[in-house]
Amino acid sequence: MQPHQPLAPVQDYPRSDMELGGFKPKALRPEEKSSKCLVYVLAIMVIQGTVLLIFGTIFLRATTPGFEFGSVRVRNLKYRTNLPSPWFNFTLVMSISIENTNFGDFRFDNTTGTVWCGPVVVGEFKVPKGRAQARATERLYVSVDVGSLRLPNTTGLSSNISNSGFLELSSHAKLSGKLNIMNIVKRTRQPELNCIMKLNFTGGSVHGLECD
Ligand SMILES: *[C@@H]1O[C@H](CO)[C@@H](O)[C@H](O)[C@H]1NC(C)=O
Ligand SMILES: *[C@@H]1O[C@H](CO)[C@@H](O)[C@H](O)[C@H]1NC(C)=O
Ligand SMILES: *[C@@H]1O[C@H](CO)[C@@H](O)[C@H](O)[C@H]1NC(C)=O
Ligand SMILES: *[C@@H]1O[C@H](CO)[C@@H](O)[C@H](O)[C@H]1NC(C)=O
Ligand SMILES: *[C@@H]1O[C@H](CO)[C@@H](O)[C@H](O)[C@H]1NC(C)=O
Repeated sequence: MQPHQPLAPVQDYPRSDMELGGFKPKALRPEEKSSKCLVYVLAIMVIQGTVLLIFGTIFLRATTPGFEFGSVRVRNLKYRTNLPSPWFNFTLVMSISIENTNFGDFRFDNTTGTVWCGPVVVGEFKVPKGRAQARATERLYVSVDVGSLRLPNTTGLSSNISNSGFLELSSHAKLSGKLNIMNIVKRTRQPELNCIMKLNFTGGSVHGLECD
């Protein structure tokens, strides 16, 4: 039975472990490990936070879509310069662009836009409800009948209507719509259209179209 005895300590391996555990420097090891773990966890949290922040600022930012005229054409232009009350009549065909740079759809309600000659509304147009897809520009055409009928006094406009004269027009519209970015960010945005242009009677065209 004696030859078996030397084997016994070998089987009792945990004992030698306990002996090693008796050394003080080795006793510190678990603490070192846990502090290292803490550093890793914090680093991962910081990296996660940074990634989320970048994700949030790039993909989840709700930017108000652009809303403006792409082009304006003149149709059915009629005018007379006879004093004391010259008159004009024309139809504007406008291409409207709704530029959505967001990573989500923009669904907007129908709205009414106006065309002004000075302080007077000379025409109204309807923008139907619709949708501008994520990172896309929605284009649609609208037309508006503009006439001098609504102007109280056109006497002062005779030189504008006569040869080489021009008429300054402005247009305004406001859309109201919902931006839905990946079902995470939902915001109401109200892009506004503000454009000015000059109508050239002799050329029968619009130039100097500017939108902001
Ligand atoms: C939108 O359309 C509805 C139904 O056609 C109409 O009643 C409403 O006045 C329109 N809104 C605007 C701002 O044009
Ligand atoms: C403008 O055109 C419409 C339809 O053609 C007409 O009813 C109206 O009288 C015109 N306006 C003027 C000021 O001539
Ligand atoms: C229209 O305006 C002109 C000047 O632009 C003025 O001389 C004329 O009296 C005005 N007519 C009316 C009816 O207000
Ligand atoms: C009429 O013409 C004059 C001079 O060309 C210009 O200053 C003025 O803004 C014009 N009026 C309109 C309503 O376009
Ligand atoms: C209007 O158009 C005609 C012909 O295209 C041009 O000769 C004229 O200079 C234009 N008028 C203005 C005010 O730009």
